[in-house]
Amino acid sequence: MRKPEPFKIKMVEPIRLIPREERIKALERAGYNPFSLRSDDIFIDLLTDSGTGAMSDRQWAGMMMGDESYAGSRSFYKLEAAAQDIFGYKYIIPAHQGRGAEQILFPQMIKKGQDVLGNMHFDTTMAHIELAGGHAVNLVHERAFDTTTPHPFKGDFDLEKLEDYIKTRGVENIAFLIMTITCNSAGGQPVSMANMRAVSEICKKYGIRVFIDAARFAENAYFIKTREEGYKDKSIKEIVREMFSYAEGFTMSAKKDAIVNMGGLVGIKDDEELYQSTRSIVVPYEGFPTYGGLAGRDIEALAVGLYEGIDEAYLEYRIAQIEYLGNRLIEGGVPIQTPPGGHAIFVDAKKFLPHIPYYQFPAQALANALYIESGIRAVEIGSFLLGRDPETGEQREADMELMRLTIPRRVYTNSHMDYIADSLIALLDKASEIKGVEIEYEPKVLRHFTAKLRPVK
Ligand code: F0G
Repeated sequence: MRKPEPFKIKMVEPIRLIPREERIKALERAGYNPFSLRSDDIFIDLLTDSGTGAMSDRQWAGMMMGDESYAGSRSFYKLEAAAQDIFGYKYIIPAHQGRGAEQILFPQMIKKGQDVLGNMHFDTTMAHIELAGGHAVNLVHERAFDTTTPHPFKGDFDLEKLEDYIKTRGVENIAFLIMTITCNSAGGQPVSMANMRAVSEICKKYGIRVFIDAARFAENAYFIKTREEGYKDKSIKEIVREMFSYAEGFTMSAKKDAIVNMGGLVGIKDDEELYQSTRSIVVPYEGFPTYGGLAGRDIEALAVGLYEGIDEAYLEYRIAQIEYLGNRLIEGGVPIQTPPGGHAIFVDAKKFLPHIPYYQFPAQALANALYIESGIRAVEIGSFLLGRDPETGEQREADMELMRLTIPRRVYTNSHMDYIADSLIALLDKASEIKGVEIEYEPKVLRHFTAKLRPVK
C-alpha cells in the first residue's frame, strides 16, 4: 500500500489555470522562453525545486526566533552546530545561495587555464569555474546518456576515464574535483557510496582536492540507503557522514534539500588556512561571516530545515512522489530518463520530438507546447542551456535534450502529479505538429534565463 504524505496542510495558496488563448499570448510575450512567464499565468510551476519548497510550521516558528545581530548572531551558532553535526565538518560559512558559495570558494582554488573535474557540473558551477579562468570537465559514466536503460547510480563518475584524464592532462593542470550529488544535469541521478569512495582514493593518489556540490545531498543519501548494498540498516545521517568523509569541503545551495526559500553554505572539513581565506573573502561579497548574505530569520529556518531534509519519512515520501509521476509517464509511453531521479523527471525530448534538431532546441519546444496545453511550466536542460562555445561562438550540441519537470518539496499533491502525467501523455499524440524554436535575442552569459526565441516557420 502506498503511504500518504507525512504532513497535513495548514495553509494553502490558490492557483488558477488561465484560458488557452491567454496562455498562447502569455508565451508569445515571454519570447517563447518559459523563464520570462509571469507566475500568475502559470498553473503548476515545475521550473525548479530551488527555493520553491514549503517550509514547515517549525521553520516558520524559527523565522520569529531569528536573531538579526549583524555579528555573532545566535541563529548562526545554531546553524553551525546543526551543519557540524550532520556533515562532520569543522568550519561552516553561510552564503546567500549556492552560487554565492561557489563565488567565494572557487576563485581561491583555480589558476587560469586549470580544469575542474566533475561528474556533470551545474550551469552556475560551470559559470563560476569559467569566470575564475578554469574549464569544467565532465567525467560522468556514459550510461547517464542512455535514458532507456535503468541503472541505480547514473550519477557515478567513470573511474577509468577519470584516471586516464588525470594522467594525460597532468595533475598541475587540475585545480580540484567536485562531486555533484545528486547529479542534477543527468536527471537528478545519484552517485553511489562506492563511487564516491573510489573517486576520493584516485584523487588522493594524485594529490587532487575533492569537494562536493551538496545541493541534493539528502536525496542522494536516501538512494544509497535504498539501492546500495550494505546501507539498508544505516541512518540517513550515518550515510551523509560517510559521503562527506570522502571530501574536504562543500558548496551547497540550501534552497533544495534544506527546504528553505533562500540560503547556501560553504563547509570546510579541517583546512584552517582555506577557512580563514574564505572567511575574509565572504565579507566583500556576501557579508559578515556569521550572516553571509542572509537574514537571521533565514538562518534559523535553515538550521531547522537541515534536519527536516534528512528525516527518513520525509525522504521516503519525496522520492516516492517523483517515482509515482515517473511510473505514470512510463506507462503512458513518455520517454524519460530511467530510473526516475531525486528531484525531477527528465523527459527525453530527442525521443519525444525526433523531427526537431538540437539547434532548434527540442526540449524548449516541448516545454512551450506543455505550457500551452495545460499551463504547466517545465524547463529545458539541453543545447539551449548549454549555449555556445566561448572560443568559437558555435552552438554546442548537448549530449541529451531533456525537459525537466522539477517537483518542489511538500508543495504539490499526487493529484497534481496525475494532471502533469495526463497532460504530457496527451501531447504525445500531437508530437509531430510541434515545431522547433530559433533564437531572436541572446545575452553572452547564462543566456537561457533571458533569451528571446520564436517558433521556426
Ligand atoms: N549546484 C547544483 C547541483 C544546483 O542544482 C544548483 C541550482 C546550484 C548548484 C546553484 O545553487 O541556485 O542556490 O545558487 N540549481 C537550481 C535548479 C537553480 O533549478 O536546478 P543556487
